[in-house]
Amino acid sequence: MVEMKPFKIISKVNGSTVELGVNPGRRLIDILREDLGLTGTKEGCGEGECGACTVLINGRPVNACLVLAPEMNGKEIITIEGLTPEDELHPIQEAFLEAGAVQCGFCTPGMILTAKALLDKNSDPDEKAVKTAISGNLCRCTGYVKIVAAIRLAAAKLAAREGSI
Ligand code: FES
Ligand code: FES
Repeated sequence: MVEMKPFKIISKVNGSTVELGVNPGRRLIDILREDLGLTGTKEGCGEGECGACTVLINGRPVNACLVLAPEMNGKEIITIEGLTPEDELHPIQEAFLEAGAVQCGFCTPGMILTAKALLDKNSDPDEKAVKTAISGNLCRCTGYVKIVAAIRLAAAKLAAREGSI
C-alpha cells in the first residue's frame, strides 16, 4: 500500500497556533478529538445530519465530521473548550443550564456553538431566527422548546453584560 504523505496544516485552534502533519483524508473531528484531545466535540451520525460535531470555522458553524484536514489549514477554529472561560461558564452555557436545556448533553456543545455564531451576528434573535439557526442541530431529549428559550435567555444575558461594561 502506498503511504500518503503527511499534509502540513497550520491553524489557530481555540486561540493557539497548531502545526500538524496529517493524512489529508482525516476528518477535522478526529484531529480535534484524537490529536488535540478536544473531546467536547461529539460525533453522532458522522454524516452531516445531526450537528453534534459542530465547531466554528472562521466564526461559522460547520459539521466537523464533513471537514477534511486540508480544509482546516489557515483557518481559525473554535471548539466548546475554546468558548468556555477557565473556572466559569460562558453566558450561553449558563443560560442553557438555567433554562433546563441540557439533558443527556450530547447535542449541547454543538448547539451552544451554533448559538454563539447566531448571537454574534444577531444580538436579539426572535424565536423564528433561533429555530432556523438550530435547524441543523438535532436533540433527541429536550423537544427544543427549552433550547430556544435558552438561546433567547443567552441573548439577554449578553446584552446585560454589554450594558454593564
Ligand atoms: S456527527 Fe457530524 S453532523 Fe452528525
Ligand atoms: S440533550 Fe440529549 S440530545 Fe440534546
